[in-house]
Formats: sequence, structure tokens, C-alpha cells
Amino acid sequence: MQQKIDQAIKDFSSELILTKTPNDVLDLKSRYIGKTGVISEILKGIKDASIEIKRSLGPLANAAKEQIESLSAERIEILETETINTKLSAEKVDLSARLGIWDKTLIHGGVHPTHQVLRELEDIFLSMGFEVLDGPHIEDDYHNFEALNIPATHPARDMQDTFWFANKKNLLRTHTSTIQIRGMKERKPPFRFVAPGKVFRCERTDATHEMVFHQLEGMMVGKDINVGHLIYFMKTLLKEIFKKDMEVRLRPGHFPFVEPGFELDIRWKKPDPKKPSERYSGWLELLPCVLVHPNVLKAWGIDPSQNSGFAFGLGLDRLVMVKHGIEVVRHFHRGDLRFLSQFANY
Ligand code: DAH
Repeated sequence: MQQKIDQAIKDFSSELILTKTPNDVLDLKSRYIGKTGVISEILKGIKDASIEIKRSLGPLANAAKEQIESLSAERIEILETETINTKLSAEKVDLSARLGIWDKTLIHGGVHPTHQVLRELEDIFLSMGFEVLDGPHIEDDYHNFEALNIPATHPARDMQDTFWFANKKNLLRTHTSTIQIRGMKERKPPFRFVAPGKVFRCERTDATHEMVFHQLEGMMVGKDINVGHLIYFMKTLLKEIFKKDMEVRLRPGHFPFVEPGFELDIRWKKPDPKKPSERYSGWLELLPCVLVHPNVLKAWGIDPSQNSGFAFGLGLDRLVMVKHGIEVVRHFHRGDLRFLSQFANY
């Protein structure tokens, strides 16, 4: 009997190798250990044997069934793994492939020229130990004007035509100087930070003016901070952006929240409107930069006898125009791919 069972297992094993799908395996298994399977038939054949023989055959038959069960399970696992592997290699996605290699008509996205310069500026200032701060586009009168020493009746308000909300309390920020206030509130000197972002003015647009533009605000407060520091950081910034030393000059400038105030100009080659191919050397007003008014420091609990600071508000779009020789600011918002693709950086 033992021999018959051994033989049955041998036969089962050699048939099992030939199975191709999990269903084949299940069919085969039931032909051996199902109700009318080979093993069951063998057992039926010894109906008339003595009770001792039957008893010894029980464990034998069980062991055979278990063996067939486990061989079947193993085979099913092998077949399933094979199926998955075949599927995977057939459906493989080559993530390293560049789409453009096959389809030259597809257009890649790129970073907008203003944002390229913005990111460059952030890196420059981070490398000089500045933090990069963010602030809300929707502001209140206090952060945009009052806290900067520009009360409701101050003429400086007229210089910043403002988009007010219907509630007359909120506005779209007209400059990033709002973040000076937010930054000072949360810090104790010494500190230094920059804050880039969009600003909004209800202006008539022309070649160099837009209603939405970008500024980068900067501020540094600590012991003995003076105009020398201000000029050093401005020149370093310009050298990094233009990849060469830039000639600069400071002119007096006035803002209510500063003392003293300057306008920084750079020397550049201006296009001649009559002969666009020719350029002449001139000064370009680039950014206001100042020492912070002692009253502004005092208002934020900073002792002006121990601390001083500088601040600046860089017009980012103008900087991008000078860097790339772009004459009309409107190009920035048009989404014209002929313009944008010149700055693609992929
Ligand atoms: N916020 C001013 C503007 O948009 C520019 C400015 C002036 C920023 C003086 C400053 C500053 O940080 O100190 O007209």
C-alpha cells in the first residue's frame, strides 16, 4: 500500500511540473486528493483489510494528502510570480526617458524669468545669513501704511494707488515693506531677512509700469549697522546677479519710515529709442535703500541707542529687465511662449 501511495505522489509530481496555470494545478490536485481522486481510490481498495492495516494507513494517507497540498501551493506561487514578472517587464515604464526625444512638438515648462532671478536672489541672501520671509497679499491699512509712519493724511499715500476692498479696511499690499513690520514684530536684534513677493498698484500701465509687479524687501538690524554695510550688501547683490562689478551711485531719497533715505542707481547701457540697435551709457534708478528711522525701531521695542538698521525695497521686474535687456514690462504677464522660451532653463 505504501508503494502505491509513493507511486501516486511520484506521478503527481511529474504531472505537476507540466502545469501552466494555477487552475491546472487545482484540477490536478483534485484528481489526486478529491473525493474520487487517486489517493481516495487507493484507500477504497483496502475496504476489506484488517482493522490494524486500516489504522496504519490513516496517517499514511493524511501525510500523502498534506504533501500534495503543499506541493500544489508551492507550484501555484511559482506560476503566479512568473505571471507578475512577465506582466511587469511587458509594461515597464522607462522613467529616464525624455519625452522630447520622441516628440519634438511637445513644449516643456520652465521657470518664469522673474522667478529665476527671485530664486537667485534668495540663494544669494541665504548665503549671506539672511532669512527669507513671506507675507500675505491681502493686508490691512495698519501694516501697509500706519506702521510705516504713513498715516491716513500723509501725502506718501498718493504715491501708491491702492486696490481697496469694499470693506475699506483691507487692501492688496502696495509694497513688501509690510513684511518689515511683521518681521520686526517677531524678532529681537540682531536679525537680517529678505522678503520677496507680488505687490499691487492701481496704476496706468506703460512700458515700465504694471499693476502687478514684484519686490524684494530686505532688512538688517543690529549694533552699529551703517550706510557702509548697506552699500556692501547692495554691491554684492548686484555683482552676483550681473556677474560683474556694477558701478553704483546713491542719491538722496525720501520715505516716511527712514532716516536717511537713498535711491541707488546703477550705470547701464540704455537702448537708444531712435536707433534701437545702439545703446548709450546712463544711470538707472534701481532701488531705494535706507537707514531705518529710529522711531520705527522704537515702535517695535528695539532700543535705537543700541541698534540701527538698513532696509531696501528692490523692484524685481526692473532688475530682470536690465539683466536681460527687456524693454517692455508687459511681456512678463502675456504668457507669450516666443518670449518665455528664450529663458527656458531645463
Ligand atoms: N516700499 C517702498 C515702495 O514700494 C520702497 C522702499 C523704500 C522699501 C524704502 C524700503 C525702504 O525697505 O526702506 O515705494
